[in-house]
Parts: sequence; C-alpha cells; structure tokens
Amino acid sequence: MAVYLTGDIHGMLDDRFEVWSFPEGEELTHDDYLIILGDFSMPYDMLEGDSDLRELNAKPWTTLFIDGNHEQHDYLASLSESEWHGGIVHRYPGYRNIIHLMRGEVYEIDGHSFFCLGGDQSIDKVIQQEWETWYPEETPDESEFANAEQNLARCGWDVDFVLTHTCANRMLGVAIGGNGFANTEIITDELTNFLDDLEDRLQYRHWFFGHLHSDCDLDDCHTLLFQSIVDLSDYV
Ligand SMILES: [Fe+2]
Repeated sequence: MAVYLTGDIHGMLDDRFEVWSFPEGEELTHDDYLIILGDFSMPYDMLEGDSDLRELNAKPWTTLFIDGNHEQHDYLASLSESEWHGGIVHRYPGYRNIIHLMRGEVYEIDGHSFFCLGGDQSIDKVIQQEWETWYPEETPDESEFANAEQNLARCGWDVDFVLTHTCANRMLGVAIGGNGFANTEIITDELTNFLDDLEDRLQYRHWFFGHLHSDCDLDDCHTLLFQSIVDLSDYV
C-alpha cells in the first residue's frame, strides 16, 4: 500500500496530477491513497457533474481529503456519515473513490495512525461574504475540538501523523516567512490556538499541513505542502 500527500487543489485538477508530473500515480490501485490537505473545494459551486471531480474519482488511487476553509461546507454537512478505518468519514454519493476525513477523527491506514483536523478561517472572508461563498462552518466549533480531544485521549495522545489544513501558532511565522506576511496575528484564531496546545500535548512523528500555498520541510517534523506530491514512506 502507498500513501501520498499534497496541498490545496481549490476544485481543480492541475498539472501535478498529470502523468508526467506524478508517474507513480499510474502504478497505484484503489487500495493506495492520495491525501489532500484541505481546500479540496469539490464539487465546485455545487455543480452536479463536476468534471474535475469525475476525473479525480476515475484516477487509479483513492483520494482522501481533509477540509479547508474553501469548501462547500453545506454540501459536506448534508452527507451521511460512515465508519472507515477506525474513524468517521463522509463519502460522496456516486464517487466511491473520494473520501472526506472528518475533523478530530483518527484513522488507521497501512499500520499508521493519522489524526485529522481540517478547517480554518478565510483571511479574505469579508470579500467571500460579498460573493456568498463564505461559511461560518469553515472553522471547527467546540464540539469538534471536544471530539478531537476524546479521540486523542483514546489513543493515549500518541499518533504517527497529524494532518491539518492550517498549523499551530508557533509554526505560522516560519511557514509564511517566505510569503511576505509580516504579522501572523491576522491568521491566529481558536483553531491555531488549539493546534498550539496539541504541539505540547500530543506525541507524533510528523505533521503535514497546507493552506499557506508553499512547499517546504519546515523542520524535522513539520511539512507544508501546496503543489508537491510527497510519498509518506519518505517520512516513516
Ligand atoms: Fe488554499
């Protein structure tokens, strides 16, 4: 079994999924996984028959995603929940190779435990509200934080991998360092505070996140992903 990870896709299959960019994908089966770290944004605009979603579903692998801020949160909330690899997921009707890894859940995949916590605030939410494309559900609520703590307690606060859309307060500075932001306070919130708390309380091997639109190994145990596709086995 193989597991690959990549960052935000914003509702589009871009060049990273082409054969010449990701030849390994051609050798995969539906027992292998590609995990997208939020801003999945499919189906885009609630359109039935989203062609990119159809194309992704037809890929040789199974696509897993955590949610980001830019999602159709009302569509996700409308989906029925089911159990998958030890945690709760959403599945898209008619798209059997697309699976939403839900907030605060822990999954066992290929002998490794993965803690997932999607969501984050949109720093452009004022504009998004004007477009009516912003959802208050983009940020986890108290019940989702409580679910995360309950599931982590069950694991003894020890997992192999952490998958989030944003990162802890303490990682924001280095994560956005190359992007021209001078002040991280504009993107700290209850979620980044919660993740900062996890940095102190949780034992983990490696933490992967997206959201900040850059590709970089920030240190020995934090990787920010955008358009790169990485092989999890390089981090085991
Ligand atoms: Fe994004």
